Amino acid sequence: MSTTHRSADDLVARYDEVRTHTESLAAPLSPEDQTVQSMPDVSPTKWHRAHVTWFFETFVLADHEPGFAPFQDRYWFLFNSYYETLGPRYSRPDRGLISRPGAHEVGTYRGNVDGRMRDLVASLDAGTLEKLTPVIELGFHHEQQHQELLLLDVKHVLSRNPLQPAYAGRPSATATPDTLGWVDVEGGLVEIGHGGDGFRFDNEEPRHRVWLEPYRLADRLVTNGEWLEFMADNGYRRHELWLSDGWAQVNAETWRAPLYWVELDGVWLEHTLHGTFPVNAGLPVSHVSFYEAEAFATWAGKRLPSEAEWEHAVVTDGATTEGANLADSDTFHPRASGPSTGRLRQAYGDCWEWTSSAYHPYPGFHPAPGAIGEYNGKFMSNQMVLRGGCALTPKGHARATYRNFFPHSARWALSGVRLADGGAPRVSA
Ligand SMILES: [Fe+2]
Repeated sequence: MSTTHRSADDLVARYDEVRTHTESLAAPLSPEDQTVQSMPDVSPTKWHRAHVTWFFETFVLADHEPGFAPFQDRYWFLFNSYYETLGPRYSRPDRGLISRPGAHEVGTYRGNVDGRMRDLVASLDAGTLEKLTPVIELGFHHEQQHQELLLLDVKHVLSRNPLQPAYAGRPSATATPDTLGWVDVEGGLVEIGHGGDGFRFDNEEPRHRVWLEPYRLADRLVTNGEWLEFMADNGYRRHELWLSDGWAQVNAETWRAPLYWVELDGVWLEHTLHGTFPVNAGLPVSHVSFYEAEAFATWAGKRLPSEAEWEHAVVTDGATTEGANLADSDTFHPRASGPSTGRLRQAYGDCWEWTSSAYHPYPGFHPAPGAIGEYNGKFMSNQMVLRGGCALTPKGHARATYRNFFPHSARWALSGVRLADGGAPRVSA
């Protein structure tokens, strides 16, 4: 998972940084806010806070702390997410029914594990520390994934409240869409996947070769203004634009706009983490499913990029996360791309970008043995890959090879659309 070498002090400092950030994200929320589960995919804030703690307790302390005993026996059952190897667990759709432990008691649990983690790291000999560092680092990145999920889930929870509460951040100025440009990419026999040093999840490896026909990528994300045009052209009502499964979903769910859009007196409003406002035409469209992204691309006479096209273009372009709209900014929302530069805009941050690629193992992929091998590999079915990170992704958690994944119909992730053209024909799931 990682080849990074860290000293004990460095490891503890990073541990404290990640753990403190989670608590700072939960700080604006009351214990009641932290308990609600507004749909089966959403987990309560306090569950996230406890589960990431359980991860360190289970995968680090249990095997290495002298005289280990769990903080609470039943927490092993409550806060296991999906690890079959570790035994039975509480039902995911019912996490919102758990009033105890309360948000405060979860804080006590966190504090207890934090103290034991610091003591353990300080007491390990150099060899054991080096062996254990990859799993502790996995714990950091796991917690960062949950920091994003915590924000996504709070957004959904607050969206169900008619008082329209705000979490944090402030709205961008009203904007019109910036001019769309295209970046041409030569293609050929290229390599994708993680091959260097530094942390990566197992699903980013092995690095391997892929053949790409010449193609081009839109130099920015699709905007709300363009999505309004798609809607005005009956995009949600024209079966010829949709994949069969997508059309079934549109009709079953009566979709007619992105997830957080509501029409009031002929005006489309959008729920955001900083409140509910008229849809801002210049910002990237967000919270659309793969099916919607695909239908939009068809309507526009374009297609979605494959994940190999996305990664190769971003690496070739030299795009970095510097200045990207990740969760270290205070918008907690996608922002306008700004004027064309001749290079890719919004490559990182703003919105996760749907690709036309199914989430499959790379050639030669092997999950690790044991429970930790359940982290990614067992989800490689019936999901599509998204790339680039979003405005809720922690800084340091976005990179060129990162593979996010969600089912085709998922809309609660902060997902958007970048168009592609040329090269391979439209690929359908
Ligand atoms: Fe998790």
